[in-house]
Amino acid sequence: MTGGTRGLGLAVGRMLAERGWRTTVLGLDPGRLEKVRAMAEAEGLDLRAVRADVTSEESVREVFAELTTDQPLHLCVNNAGRNLSRLLLRKPRDEGAAELLTHPLDDWEKTLRLCLTGVFLVGREAAASMVRHQVAGAIVNVSSGLAAGAYGQSAYTAAKAGVEALTRTWSYELGPYGIRVAAVAPGVMDGEALREKSTAFPRHAHYMDGLKRFVPLGRWGAEEEIADAVCFAAENPYVTGSVIRVDGGGPPGWVP
Ligand SMILES: NC(=O)c1ccc[n+]([C@@H]2O[C@H](COP(=O)([O-])OP(=O)(O)OC[C@H]3O[C@@H](n4cnc5c(N)ncnc54)[C@H](OP(=O)(O)O)[C@@H]3O)[C@@H](O)[C@H]2O)c1
Repeated sequence: MTGGTRGLGLAVGRMLAERGWRTTVLGLDPGRLEKVRAMAEAEGLDLRAVRADVTSEESVREVFAELTTDQPLHLCVNNAGRNLSRLLLRKPRDEGAAELLTHPLDDWEKTLRLCLTGVFLVGREAAASMVRHQVAGAIVNVSSGLAAGAYGQSAYTAAKAGVEALTRTWSYELGPYGIRVAAVAPGVMDGEALREKSTAFPRHAHYMDGLKRFVPLGRWGAEEEIADAVCFAAENPYVTGSVIRVDGGGPPGWVP
C-alpha cells in the first residue's frame, strides 16, 4: 500500500488491517511513518509502516526484496500521488511584459514521476512477486475523477489517464496468472490535502466551494467512503480491468 502515511492511503491501510489483511504502508516522511506505527500499536492493528520512495526504481526494488522475498504478496494498492495545478500558459500579471508564462517542464516531470511512473515501478514489482509465488492476487490503482481532463491540470490529468490505461493493460496481461487489476477514481475528498490547500490559498477554497454545486450529492467524499471502494476492488474475485468511480456523481472535470 503506497502513500499510506496520511489521507486516503492511511484510511485504506487502516481499513485493510481492520478487515484482517496483514498490511504494510509505504511513505517517505519519517515522522508520519512513526505516527502510523504508534497508531497501529495503540489500536492493536497488524499494520507496519516502512520508508520507500515510489519514484525511485532502486528504493522500490529494495523494499520489495525486504518485504516479499520470503512471504507472498496478495494485494498491492498504488495510492501515492499528488495533485498539481498549473496552466499550460498564462499571461503575466504585468501588462507590459511580452512573454507568456508556460507550464514548467520540471513540474510536468515530477508529477508524472510520482503519479504514473511510481505506479508502474510498484505495480511491476508487485506483479512479479505474485507470479513468482504463484499468488492469484490483486493490484488496485488510485486514479482520479480528473482523469478525463480538467482545467489547469495538464500533468495530473495525463498521469491519471495513464493510470487508468495501465489498469486495463495489466488486467489483460496478468489475468492469465489469476491476478486482477482495478482502479478506483475518487472525486474530491474532504481530507487533509484539501484542507491544507484551502488554508494556504483562500481563492482555492472559494473556487472549490463553488464547484460543490455540480456534485449531485452536494458534498465531498469522506476518505472512508473511497477506502471502502478500494477494499471492494481488492476483495471481489470477479472485478478486473474496471475503473470504479466514487465521486458523488461529479463534477465531470474542473472548469475555469
Ligand atoms: N485528495 C483528493 O481529493 C483526491 C481526489 C482524487 C484522487 N486522489 C488521489 O488519491 C491519492 C491519495 O491522495 P491524498 O489526498 O490522500 O494524498 P496526500 O494526503 O497528499 O498523501 C499522499 C501520500 O503519498 C505519499 N507519498 C508522496 N510522495 C511519495 C513518494 N515519492 N514515495 C512514497 N510515498 C509518497 C505521502 O507520504 P509522506 O507524507 O510520508 O511523504 C502520503 O502518504 C492520490 O493518488 C491522489 O491523486 C485524491
